Amino acid sequence: MKQQLEAIRAAALEAILAADDAEGLDALRVKYLGKKGELTAVLKQMGGLSAEERPVMGQLANSVRADLEKAVEEQSAILAEKALQRRLVEEAVDVTIPGKKAEVGHKHPMYVALDELKEIFIGMGFTILDGPEVELAVNNFDRLNAEEGHPSRDWSDTFYFDTDSRVMLRSQTSPMQVRAMDTMELPIRIVAPGRVYRKDEVDATHSPMFHQVEGMVIDKGVTMADLKGTLNTVVRKLYGENTVTRFRPHHFPFTEPSCEMDVQCHKCGGVGCPTCKGEGWIELLGAGMIHPRVLEMSGIDPTVYTGWAFGMGLERMAMRRFKIADLRLIFENDVRFLSQF
Ligand code: PHE
Repeated sequence: MKQQLEAIRAAALEAILAADDAEGLDALRVKYLGKKGELTAVLKQMGGLSAEERPVMGQLANSVRADLEKAVEEQSAILAEKALQRRLVEEAVDVTIPGKKAEVGHKHPMYVALDELKEIFIGMGFTILDGPEVELAVNNFDRLNAEEGHPSRDWSDTFYFDTDSRVMLRSQTSPMQVRAMDTMELPIRIVAPGRVYRKDEVDATHSPMFHQVEGMVIDKGVTMADLKGTLNTVVRKLYGENTVTRFRPHHFPFTEPSCEMDVQCHKCGGVGCPTCKGEGWIELLGAGMIHPRVLEMSGIDPTVYTGWAFGMGLERMAMRRFKIADLRLIFENDVRFLSQF
């Protein structure tokens, strides 16, 4: 039995010292020290020993057990330390490797242009107004003096939500004139930018969704001269002091008289080129003196108050500001294009 115990001790110690991972070491602990292990198996034979031999063997068995337990513990500590070192090497972070640069976006060129425009108007005492894109036809047409039968109300031009043409995607920002008159105290000085919708095919100058900026002033004694002065000031701040403009007569149902404002082509200086389609001028906005009937429908006395309004195409303004040739570039969100601004 002594030999058996010594053999177990020798073999077990060798195996334990050779164990190279925690699972292997645990298997050895079970194999030698477990309830069904080799040491227990030997101890079960103690009953057959003489009374003198039993305590001697008992002592020896205990010392073997103690040795093996100590060896398992020490090896376990060694393996844990090795595992830690391995992880420290494997998971080490090289703080000297250059970092990944986070690509931060920037404002879309059209909104750069819009913000410039807002700044100019705010500086002149205007309030910026926001309003719904889903609008009542009453506000988009009727209250703007475009009655039943007006061509712009046609189904082929306008996105309606219902069969009786009462709710629609606004086709212009001009219903913001109505909303301002309904909600604000006189005098009124507002600018209202936003999206508008028309049934247009997409090409270099058209899109079914685009942006307009509405402007309106109502006060006592407001004249066409104020309209021209204000718009000329704005355009020169945007495009430079030497910008040349012209006002052409036009027609809108809600202004009288009405006009369109052109800027001289920045490419050819008015001679005519592909950018201005040979015209020498680029149309920028529609405007006019608010029709007395529009004021009346909003409960404003046109013999006391007068006003003017304009509606500007924001894409067109940004295209001129940044010399962009094709409207589609503004909506396509191609970073190669957008990152240039
Ligand atoms: N709403 C008109 C359009 O979309 C522009 C406009 C606005 C004209 C205000 C006059 C006054 O064409």
